[in-house]
Amino acid sequence: MTRHPLPQGMTRATVVTGTYDGYMPGFGNDFETEALPGALPQGQNSPQKCAYGLYAEQLSGTVFTRPHPERTWCYRIRPSVRHTGRFDPIELPYWQTAPNVLPDIASLGQYRWDPIPLPGSDQDLTWLTGMRTMTTAGDVNLQVGMASHVYLVSRSMQDEYFFSADGELLVVPQEGRLRFCTELGVIDVEPKEIAIIPRGLIFRVEVLEGPCRGFVCENYGQTFTLPNRGPIGANCLANPRDFKCPVAAFEDRETRSRLVVKWCGRFHETWIDHSPLDVVAWHGNYCPYKYDLRSYSPVGAILFDHPDPSIFTVLTAPSGQEGVANIDFVLFRERWMVAEHSFRPPWYHRNIMSELMGNIYGIYDAKPQGFAPGGISLHNCMLPHGPDRDAFEGASNAELKPEKLDNTMSFMFETRFPQHLTAFAANEAPLQQEYIEVWQQLEKKFDGTPGIK
Ligand SMILES: [Fe+2]
Repeated sequence: MTRHPLPQGMTRATVVTGTYDGYMPGFGNDFETEALPGALPQGQNSPQKCAYGLYAEQLSGTVFTRPHPERTWCYRIRPSVRHTGRFDPIELPYWQTAPNVLPDIASLGQYRWDPIPLPGSDQDLTWLTGMRTMTTAGDVNLQVGMASHVYLVSRSMQDEYFFSADGELLVVPQEGRLRFCTELGVIDVEPKEIAIIPRGLIFRVEVLEGPCRGFVCENYGQTFTLPNRGPIGANCLANPRDFKCPVAAFEDRETRSRLVVKWCGRFHETWIDHSPLDVVAWHGNYCPYKYDLRSYSPVGAILFDHPDPSIFTVLTAPSGQEGVANIDFVLFRERWMVAEHSFRPPWYHRNIMSELMGNIYGIYDAKPQGFAPGGISLHNCMLPHGPDRDAFEGASNAELKPEKLDNTMSFMFETRFPQHLTAFAANEAPLQQEYIEVWQQLEKKFDGTPGIK
């Protein structure tokens, strides 16, 4: 991957314990990093006076009393209270938040969309103005549920910053390269990678290579974590060492800047005279991170039948109820199919969870036609779905030799809550009106006589 120079005026650590190409490896680690030598206090969190005249501040992503709290200590040029002033409401009408149940829109149905077109040269879209919410689920005020979005970004945010109090953002790029300049460091992402931006963390999004399009899962609930592994044991799936957290990076920039805040579904702006990305050193376990989906090691059937798709879970956001996820992030990537005397694609099913899928690249095996890279499908709570006719006939009659599913990467945002369409998804996005017809051609084979049809 190409290394891009940092923004002018930004300083990044050069020697940090565990440094890996600007990132530190591991999932949920208690990291420590400093962009200036000696900036990080040793042996305590809150010295009477910090080095360099920095202010100490804690950012808590979970309640203090959780068994394993997630929090980070920041040592910064100004405390965060200097990074906000009075707030004025603003409108970002395409970024919607649950609950958003619209009486004149039917969310009941199997839906699929063509890719939402990339922004053209006449469209000036940033991370904020280019966010397009497709579905919402749950209730942000109860801190349960999620929203799914597509981002269309053609321009970097300039002297503009953002944080969301509503949830963490799971970012799945599909076209173009983005840079997230955050309080805790810099993350560059491209297609086949994901990034997670924690709730409350201030950041700016820059375009490294555009125009950009991708998917976002906004998680209102508990933070994403690795799934319980059960009989799988310690290896395969997403391995902790493949997650990367950025080293400290800060900018000491005295420029009039706009900070946009999302809070309970409403957007607000406040103006300050400097960059809020002024954390010189930090330590803790509440931080942004990235992950290369190509490092995901799928586990699956090696004799007959195939497991539930939960076997492909990369990250899960618990609900508080044992075994029930608020959200699962599930990956369908390249893999070998070897099952004997089995129907190999996903079976027909109905499911209490609501499944929003996106195609990152290639062909998805249950839908060889019509589910294009950049496209989205939604199979909502208890709605039947499964392979289309071509996939069914092909898989039913295929010679069952080992076969590599190649050039394929799709994902699913799966939530325990029904997903409701936004007005954009129902009326403006390129909805495939004929989608349900992919199943209408499935004919009745039963004629009362025994035997294989
Ligand atoms: Fe499904």
